[in-house]
Amino acid sequence: MEVIVRPITAKDKEQWTRLWKLYQAFYHVSLSDEIGDSTFTRCLDPDVKMWAALAISPITNEPIGMVNYFSHIQTWDVKDKILLNDLYVDEEARIKGAGKKLIQYVYDHADKLQTPHVYWNTDHFNHRAQLLYTKIGYKTDKVQYRRKGF
Ligand SMILES: CC(C)(COP(=O)(O)OP(=O)(O)OC[C@H]1O[C@@H](n2cnc3c(N)ncnc32)[C@H](O)[C@@H]1OP(=O)(O)O)[C@@H](O)C(=O)NCCC(=O)NCCS
Repeated sequence: MEVIVRPITAKDKEQWTRLWKLYQAFYHVSLSDEIGDSTFTRCLDPDVKMWAALAISPITNEPIGMVNYFSHIQTWDVKDKILLNDLYVDEEARIKGAGKKLIQYVYDHADKLQTPHVYWNTDHFNHRAQLLYTKIGYKTDKVQYRRKGF
């Protein structure tokens, strides 16, 4: 039996929030509940091009991973492109293919939307994540800058 990836439903709030908080802990940040509530609600809103999916363990039938992503307009194509913003797999469930399946799910959804361009950022020192990313994507030469204070 294999991990299954499916979109979130309103019933997934508790489990999605559990993974969302672990993801924040991984980044040593603590976002307000207001932000979590807003992101979860937006991911379920058919009028907002933001989505979330969960990886479900075939053994426990419980979520073990999460991906959040959204679509946005761009200047270099008439089609939107998709930013895969958040990816997290429970520590004990890692290196069993859940992360790859979550990304593949986003690819498949992007293809269905006919906006196949999917991209994401990671920390240069997140070697573990990059072991996966080099297998399903390629590393660009871009360096990210931000407005000071953000
Ligand atoms: C990054 C993350 C989502 C990957 O999830 P995962 O379920 O372990 O990913 P997968 O099992 O699909 O893929 C991991 C791949 O990297 C390889 N890999 C990972 N760790 C490895 C290690 N220590 N040694 C060798 N290979 C390793 C695996 O072999 C696997 O490739 P394969 O499927 O071809 O065998 C997970 O580690 C995680 O949640 N990390 C913390 C949060 C994070 O970094 N999020 C991403 C932020 S950009």
